Amino acid sequence: MNTGMDKDFHSAVPTHIAIIMDGNGRWALSRGLPRLAGHRAGTENLRRVIEACAEFGIKYLTIYAFSTENWGRPLEEVQGLLRILEDVIDRELQELHDQGVQLRHIGRLDGLKPALRKKVLEAIEFTKHNTRLILNVAFNYGGRDEIVCAIQRLIKDGVAAEEITDALVSQYLFTAGVPDPDLIIRTSGELRGSNFLIWQGAYSEWYFTPTYWPDFDKEELSRALEEFRQRERRYGRVSQSL
Ligand code: IPE
Ligand code: IPE
Ligand code: MG
Repeated sequence: MNTGMDKDFHSAVPTHIAIIMDGNGRWALSRGLPRLAGHRAGTENLRRVIEACAEFGIKYLTIYAFSTENWGRPLEEVQGLLRILEDVIDRELQELHDQGVQLRHIGRLDGLKPALRKKVLEAIEFTKHNTRLILNVAFNYGGRDEIVCAIQRLIKDGVAAEEITDALVSQYLFTAGVPDPDLIIRTSGELRGSNFLIWQGAYSEWYFTPTYWPDFDKEELSRALEEFRQRERRYGRVSQSL
């Protein structure tokens, strides 16, 4: 596990931020709009947050866009969310590419229809040489599903029990090669992890805000970064100030 043990107790800017973009539905409800309008507004906001992260010097941004549990929502909402994913690729890909964003996906693409799966894979291919910001989109993602998938592949590869290490498990996750998130942000006031990066987040700092995702702006992001700067990451050791 890359817990950052080699790092200082304090780091100025997180290398990797992960965000649970929550509260789109309540944002819409509070305006008398349908839930999907909230998801559209959330997508608009994402564009701003991506640019802000790049400006702040963050190298990896992982966003929770659709969980393995979100299939349980009404069909209309699920279909709307799939359409939004498709629209984002159609409309925003060039812009993301021009911003130097490398798009990646974590989760299972096999839950998507073949045409959308192809579109996602083409978008990943199109941006693969960009280095300014790596954007991991967690879509049809679940932390437990990811671990189950890793165990299945370890067994299929014939890995012996005694060869299984922390580092090897990390290499079998969807996030292989990506440092663990330093900071996980959840908007909308919910205080739970909802199956997001449960392995990788073992030593992440958490930041919660009551703000609904469509309203989470650059100022809020810099507040989260400021709070992160104040935190002391001890990794089970004793405080440096003692
Ligand atoms: C987060 O917003 C986006 C997804 C889960 C796709 P929600 O849709 O969960 O919004 P609330 O929590 O109902 O307000
Ligand atoms: C988590 O939010 C998933 C995403 C943001 C994509 P949910 O709204 O689905 O989580 P719960 O149901 O409140 O735990
Ligand atoms: Mg929610």
